[in-house]
Amino acid sequence: MSIPVWAQLAYLAAAVCFILALKGLSGPKTARNGNIIGAVAAVVACAIPFFYLDLDHVPLILVAIAVGTAGGVYGARTVQMTQMPQMVALFNGVGGGAAALVALLELHEITSGAGDEPGWFILLATAFTILVGSVSFAGSVITFAKLQELMTSRPVVFPGLPVVFGLALIGALVLGGLLIGDAGNGSGMSAGIVLALLGLLVGVLLVLPVGGADVPIVISLLNAFTGLTVAAGGYVLSNTLLLVAGTLVGASGTFLTLLMAGAMGRSVANIMFGALKGGSTLGSGVASDRPVKSAGAEDIAILLAYAERVIIVPGYGLAVAQAQHTLRELVDVLTARGIEVDYAIHPVAGRMPGHMNVLLAEAQVPYEQLKEMDEINGEFKNADVVLVVGANDVVNPAAKTTPGAPIYGMPILNADEAKQVIFMKRSMRPGFAGIENELLFEPTTTLFFGDAKESLGKLLNAVKAQ
Ligand code: TAP
Repeated sequence: MSIPVWAQLAYLAAAVCFILALKGLSGPKTARNGNIIGAVAAVVACAIPFFYLDLDHVPLILVAIAVGTAGGVYGARTVQMTQMPQMVALFNGVGGGAAALVALLELHEITSGAGDEPGWFILLATAFTILVGSVSFAGSVITFAKLQELMTSRPVVFPGLPVVFGLALIGALVLGGLLIGDAGNGSGMSAGIVLALLGLLVGVLLVLPVGGADVPIVISLLNAFTGLTVAAGGYVLSNTLLLVAGTLVGASGTFLTLLMAGAMGRSVANIMFGALKGGSTLGSGVASDRPVKSAGAEDIAILLAYAERVIIVPGYGLAVAQAQHTLRELVDVLTARGIEVDYAIHPVAGRMPGHMNVLLAEAQVPYEQLKEMDEINGEFKNADVVLVVGANDVVNPAAKTTPGAPIYGMPILNADEAKQVIFMKRSMRPGFAGIENELLFEPTTTLFFGDAKESLGKLLNAVKAQ
């Protein structure tokens, strides 16, 4: 059925809104508006078909929308910021799975002879959507399980994995080819179902060998896969909006994957297949028992009182402790006393892109105080005190000095160049990469043990009491 002009115009407006939404999401000041524009466009896009299509099973569709909406609202309201990557994985997987199911339904129409005879390109797009949507669904479920610690987050490799993976992939391609060549015969639907099952297997085997710090990057890659799947689904359904939205997701997911891999000093191929060659993305994770220098809030407050230039390095622990508001209060007191304070933002600090920016924006930290790595790295040598709050890997010099370390090659913040480094953490456990940080044992480093929120509260009181 052809789409009426008014609906096509509404789809076009929604597509423009999606582009504006992406533009808005590219900066902290405009992100909230960007998000709203995208959400409104998505609601409009979902509503349009009800007004021009002669739909069957409307009550069932409405129930499905209600269940999805309730799940989405509940998830978004209750998720902790630190669990955001797994939520993205889940939503992304559901998107890929839904696209694969829609394509299977289209295939059912085609094989039952209900519609017009399809061209080979439609069949190619259908097979692609079934396969890649299934890969994306299964891969996302495994990444979710890894990040939610429902299974080990280490790479899982077993003998013969590359062979099984290769055979599954070849099988899927051959089956896809057969489906395109001969969808009209009765076995077309069975071929589609086997293709989906092979896609699920490929998705699982693709993600199992990825571990540690690389898992969030794979989420972004699977996100790109889902985008391409949805775009192909748009072609199958002759829906331009799906085509545009899928292409936007595919392109932005690809860019994000490349940016994150670059920020960790790795190639995407190394991230996906490194473990098959025996490389590891995680160290032992054992807490060190080497001696360190530690101090309490009063001593550190004195150190801050004599400082003229202070740089804060926020990391994952700041998010875990939800200490961003207390940190901002401390920085406000220091700046009011004439001390120059900035926050050094590493591109992969935390567990998702922009994690620190979002966290600090939530605490109303002025954007001007947030300095990207390249902008601030030359400043560390002039800093009197660097306050590392719940960060570890992003200041670990092993990234520069220890070939073979899981983070070797990752650009880091030059905290080691400062006159004094204060580390706020709870224990001697390592960071995400699971390796020891030599900076903790330097003579210029002092540890301030405890939960970041509690420690910052004590430090704030000690500074105010001066
Ligand atoms: P991490 O290296 O993971 O270090 C976090 C530190 O916070 C740990 O030393 C931990 O020590 C401390 N901590 C945890 N909870 C705390 C609390 N409640 N109070 C105080 N300290 C607490 O973090 P990072 O420096 O931000 O580096 C991020 C890591 O994640 C990198 O390895 C990066 O590659 C990886 N990664 C990031 C991303 C993105 S996009 N951001 C994606 C994939 C991977 P204790 O346990 O002793 O307290």
